[in-house]
Amino acid sequence: MASTQAAQVLVASNRGPVSYQVAEDGSLHARRGGGGLVSGLSAIGPDAGALWVCSSLSDGDREAVRRGVGEPGVRMLDIPADVHADAYNGVANSVLWFVHHMLYQTPLEPSFDAEFRAQWESYEAYNRAFASALAEEAADGATAVIQDYHLTLVPGMLRALRPDLRIGHFSHTPWAPPDYFRVLPDDIAAAILHGMLGADRLGFLTHRWADAFRACCEAFVDGGVGGTRIGVHGLGADADFLRQRSHEPDVTERLASLRTEIGASPDGTPRRTIVRVDRTELSKNIVRGLHAYRHLLATRPEWRDRVTHVAFAYPSRQDLAVYRDYTAEVQRVAAQINDDYGTSAWTPVILHVEDDFARSLAAYRLADVALVNPIRDGMNLVAKEVPVVSDEGCALVLSREAGAYEELAEDAITVNPYDITQTAEALHTALSMPPGERAERAKRLAAAATALPPARWFLDQLNELEA
Ligand code: F6P
Repeated sequence: MASTQAAQVLVASNRGPVSYQVAEDGSLHARRGGGGLVSGLSAIGPDAGALWVCSSLSDGDREAVRRGVGEPGVRMLDIPADVHADAYNGVANSVLWFVHHMLYQTPLEPSFDAEFRAQWESYEAYNRAFASALAEEAADGATAVIQDYHLTLVPGMLRALRPDLRIGHFSHTPWAPPDYFRVLPDDIAAAILHGMLGADRLGFLTHRWADAFRACCEAFVDGGVGGTRIGVHGLGADADFLRQRSHEPDVTERLASLRTEIGASPDGTPRRTIVRVDRTELSKNIVRGLHAYRHLLATRPEWRDRVTHVAFAYPSRQDLAVYRDYTAEVQRVAAQINDDYGTSAWTPVILHVEDDFARSLAAYRLADVALVNPIRDGMNLVAKEVPVVSDEGCALVLSREAGAYEELAEDAITVNPYDITQTAEALHTALSMPPGERAERAKRLAAAATALPPARWFLDQLNELEA
């Protein structure tokens, strides 16, 4: 049943637009996040009757829900910490993320045992909590757009509760091809596909991921995708926001300190920079990126002392041991390169691991080369943002396995992310590109990267659902 202030447009995602921390004096502090959905929702305006349903993720969030503290337009669900841990860490991030990004070392993993079955029950309970909240809050005939692999069962559950709604789901990840998707236990693979097919329309970032989903349905569901429509919306960078934000004083300040850190070549010119900015995420391929840089220094000695690899690898999913180990490996390989090649005047790799958005933008501004080499990635917005922000225009070394490849391949230098030799050669080509060509390519990359800004990306999905 719709409540009195029923919502016309509902968004559901695991991570919401705000998070809370309890300070030492017991007061609650709110932190607001950014991203495509935040811009999308602001584009429909404050009077559109929109509601964002999200999960509490931390003790601070749960405390906020219990104290009744909240933001207008946001309903944070009080999911018990153990249920959330099983659903988010156990199923979504350790299984579904691994399947869609094809991250398993299959001789040893995955193993679907009794512990996994218990986690799956939590995933179902967590999805049910979202479906119930959406069903409670939605106005008659409202539109609900559900986000990502955390919430694959919600469309089907919500459809059963509220057949009057228009239901969309959007995947921000790749989708696994059938031969990989079938590592999931049969009943769970079926539950996920049937859950998703409860939606009227499913959105994906690229044709490749949409085709993979369709292929999974054809392989594992009688009648394939049936009446569910499938669309592609390639989320782009937010040019206006980025251009303005990257010229604010805190960014300019960080630009100056980064320049000092990078320093000058023996001939007095500023050192060239290869920039990467990522979450420390298994799929981002940071370790092979470092090996490729090392191979460049080994095989092209002319670059020694003349180039710096600025690598920002920000903490992510640190509850999972495999992410902690990967973070340690990134730090170990970077330190090894500095030990082997560094001098008193030159640090070959500048690695920063504390998240600092202003410093990321500063690095974007001074990038000569952007390195984006994921082994598999839904889109990769960094590939789209650096060409927009870079002061002189950067060359882009881009993995053919990133979603962004579909739109940016023509003006990027593209690589097989597993091929370290080829990636090193691509870095050399990018560093050697004449400034005129680099600027021209960056201009075209920026145009392609901003073709579908976040607000339009979101509105297009709503329009399609309401059509
Ligand atoms: O699509 C993947 C995604 O959920 C993105 O929306 C987000 O940027 C990223 O993963 C971060 O994930 P988390 O919320 O687990 O930190």
